[in-house]
Amino acid sequence: MCGIIGYTGNSQALPVLIQGIRLLSYRGYDSAGVSVWRAGALHVRRDPGRIEDLAPGWDPDALAGTTGVGHTRWATHGVPNRVNAHPHSDADGAVALVHNGIVENDLALRKELEADGVKFTSDTDTEVLAHLFARAFRGDPVAAARDLLRRCRGQFALAIQHRDLPHTLLAVRRGSPLLIGLGVRENLVASDLRPLVGRADRVLDMGEDEIAVVTPTTVELFDAAGAPVVREPRPVDHTEREIGKDGHAHFMLKEMHEQPHRLYELVASRVDSDGRLVRFDDVGIDDDAWRRFSRVDLVGAGTAYHACLYGAQVIETLARIPARAVMSHEYAAAQPVLGPDVLVIAVSQSGETMDTKVALEAALEGDAATLGVLNVRQSVIGRMAGGVMDLHAGPEISVASTKAHTSMLCALALLALKAAQARGVTSTPYGDIARALWALPDAVRMALADFGAAAEAARDVRRADHMLYLGRSWDSSTALEGALKMKEISYIHAEGYAAGELKHGPIALVSREVPTVAIVTPGRMRERMLGNVREVRAREGEILIVASKDDEEARFLADFVLPVPTLDERIAPIVNVVPLQVLAYETARLRGCDIDQPRNLAKTVTVQ
Ligand code: F6R
Repeated sequence: MCGIIGYTGNSQALPVLIQGIRLLSYRGYDSAGVSVWRAGALHVRRDPGRIEDLAPGWDPDALAGTTGVGHTRWATHGVPNRVNAHPHSDADGAVALVHNGIVENDLALRKELEADGVKFTSDTDTEVLAHLFARAFRGDPVAAARDLLRRCRGQFALAIQHRDLPHTLLAVRRGSPLLIGLGVRENLVASDLRPLVGRADRVLDMGEDEIAVVTPTTVELFDAAGAPVVREPRPVDHTEREIGKDGHAHFMLKEMHEQPHRLYELVASRVDSDGRLVRFDDVGIDDDAWRRFSRVDLVGAGTAYHACLYGAQVIETLARIPARAVMSHEYAAAQPVLGPDVLVIAVSQSGETMDTKVALEAALEGDAATLGVLNVRQSVIGRMAGGVMDLHAGPEISVASTKAHTSMLCALALLALKAAQARGVTSTPYGDIARALWALPDAVRMALADFGAAAEAARDVRRADHMLYLGRSWDSSTALEGALKMKEISYIHAEGYAAGELKHGPIALVSREVPTVAIVTPGRMRERMLGNVREVRAREGEILIVASKDDEEARFLADFVLPVPTLDERIAPIVNVVPLQVLAYETARLRGCDIDQPRNLAKTVTVQ
């Protein structure tokens, strides 16, 4: 988590650092800070709050200088206040250090330093690094950085300045990503590409346990033993440039409206209209491999895990391979039985989620075949996985994932179709599935056009403290996702259940004050879902139903109908989730919540 930016060149560092922090705020936004070298000293400013509010108060004269580091924080160790904000320094102010990740042996190191007379001013693990670096520095930054790598356990990315090195940044990477951006008489350090675009034309990916010494005109790379490393930089991918809201009030709104187009591109790039040709030459799994697999494990977290639940069902149903979804943070600990006949699919928008990376590591150690279903190909997981299926959903800025989620579902359905084809599964109705996939972009467009229905329901549920979401079979994961969207942006406590569970406990919660959302679209489970709806009704519960526009029965039973077009039930979850996104969005808006940056969350979770 957190975001790192460093700059050294001919321009003033402060505006570059502030802009970098702004672009990195999707990684965390509890507090922010900068340090700039000027006249033999490091000048530090750090505050709790968001960069939009903080930057106007940071004095450009006090922070004048052409070399500096900046940071935006998502708190792991210590509350988000000024003393815990980065950069951190030693007692003399000789060092300014910003940090992403976690030092796992920080308590032991802290004790050792305290025994030696060091006084700590913050609750962070990062301060340990600043003191250790300051004490190890004897004029050679690489030697001091090697000392850090030797003594610290965990995953971390660091950008460091030392008072004695006026135009130098030091970058250290273990586990967490760190990039060096190469510009003209200026170089940058950043935890991802976004703040580098527009300043750097090439980028150097730092490898594991590497150290970089960066000046305006030179970059030297070293390994943990201090030996020089030679690596060719790659050109900067300009499609990752900062994007605006295109006139929408929030990124979430813009991203919801992008879904029809993104889904169209995904379908059109993979399948012809009758489903006979499913193109997958680029994902690194050939037909023989598909025939060999005896099991597919899908791993992901949060919204991506919900996509895994759908993915497991669609792969097992269409391709007849046993498939299961496992929360990525539970995967390695469960000691799965692995081998070359198991395919592990890591599903992730960012490709940087630490939990999912660790699950993928377990898969690789177990000799399983691996595939990343990712929105960022050039990501940590993208580089580790045996193959990558790119979602091509475009940058997703809103913390609450929408377009990446529907693209994940669509990609997994396409993958299932491909696997079915490769395995020669005769029971799969390829034409029906292909038609439903082709109908998807318009169906999502129509669901979005009915925005008003969800907006009206939101005017009612905005007053709720608790909500229930119910779905069955294909839509049980839709219920989980709807509830997650609601809780993360509106702060209403929402629980999603496979509706069969209702009688086994959750029905105790049903009351007029707890709105229940039920997904009752056509399919094998419709009658049973209607049974659940009646059970809720009989207990005077308020009911919102996701149903076909012309479903009279649903209309009769519901307080509010969230209409969706009818699709094959195996593909329908991709459209059924859309009114639930809108409901969460509108509810959060009416409750005055910060939709794109909800409290306590971060877009990319790079700690376990
Ligand atoms: C919720 C949300 C999170 C992410 C989760 C995994 O809207 O976005 O639950 O889905 O943190 O992130 P990725 O997909 O980047 O691995």
